[in-house]
Amino acid sequence: MSRLNDQVAIVTGAGSGIGKGIAKRFMEEGATVVIATDQSEEGINTVKELQKNNGNAVFIQTDVAMETSIQNMVQETISRFGQIDALVNNAGITVFKTLEEATIDDWNNLINIDLRGPFLCSKYVMPYMKKQSKGSIINISSNHAFATLPDSEIYAAAKGGVNAMTKSMALSLGQYGIRVNSICPGFTNTPHYQRWLAEKSDKELIHQEVLQLHPLQKICTPEDIGDMAVYLASAESAMVTGEAIVMDGGLSSRLYHSKLC
Ligand SMILES: NC(=O)c1ccc[n+]([C@@H]2O[C@H](COP(=O)([O-])OP(=O)(O)OC[C@H]3O[C@@H](n4cnc5c(N)ncnc54)[C@H](O)[C@@H]3O)[C@@H](O)[C@H]2O)c1
Repeated sequence: MSRLNDQVAIVTGAGSGIGKGIAKRFMEEGATVVIATDQSEEGINTVKELQKNNGNAVFIQTDVAMETSIQNMVQETISRFGQIDALVNNAGITVFKTLEEATIDDWNNLINIDLRGPFLCSKYVMPYMKKQSKGSIINISSNHAFATLPDSEIYAAAKGGVNAMTKSMALSLGQYGIRVNSICPGFTNTPHYQRWLAEKSDKELIHQEVLQLHPLQKICTPEDIGDMAVYLASAESAMVTGEAIVMDGGLSSRLYHSKLC
């Protein structure tokens, strides 16, 4: 039997990368998936592509930076399916700029999407999960919540905030049978990673170095993150809540990097 049979899951930002990998794995495990992304072409194409392998998905255009857009998406999900079993707060953007260059608009855009978005989506989904006395909220955070890099202040703040908020929500919602966890990916092979590589002068050399920094000599795929999300949405993780699960192939286990010692 499939692990998510009869479940309805919302995945924000599921038109690309990690969100699309999560939606694919959820559908393979029997869930009906709402592709809640802001780009209509991406959303429609994702539904077409994922439904080729059977399974059920619908696109509901959603901008997680807009409260009314989130409320409409949740309402439409309930009118169509009558239940919400899992919410994956995945939509996110990055800003890597020096403190001098980063603007208040950069701060507001990123915080609105990466931190306020998960807060509002959870707030509006939670009453339906409460009525069902069950639900799983999965926040896609980052390993930047634990250790970061220069010029990542806004992104690191948002993802650190997501992890702290995850713990508080787990405490508030446990009494209703709602579990809340975050997944903290490291390098993951998405269009976003490919765009980052494309900006470098020696792409292949940098890609090889990235692989070597990982004990497993490889980086995550969107489906790897999808496997963890399936686990967190399934009954197998019934006693797991308030956790921040790092998935970075062991990258952050190393104390330091040196070619000399
Ligand atoms: N790729 C990585 O290496 C990596 C590592 C750690 C964490 N993450 C996190 O994983 C998540 C997904 O990243 P990705 O690499 O797949 O990115 P991506 O750029 O490939 O996909 C992001 C998706 O979010 C959507 N989106 C953007 N703004 C939105 C908005 N306002 N409302 C609704 N949808 C919106 C985009 O249209 C797209 O579908 C993000 O939260 C990111 O921070 C990614």
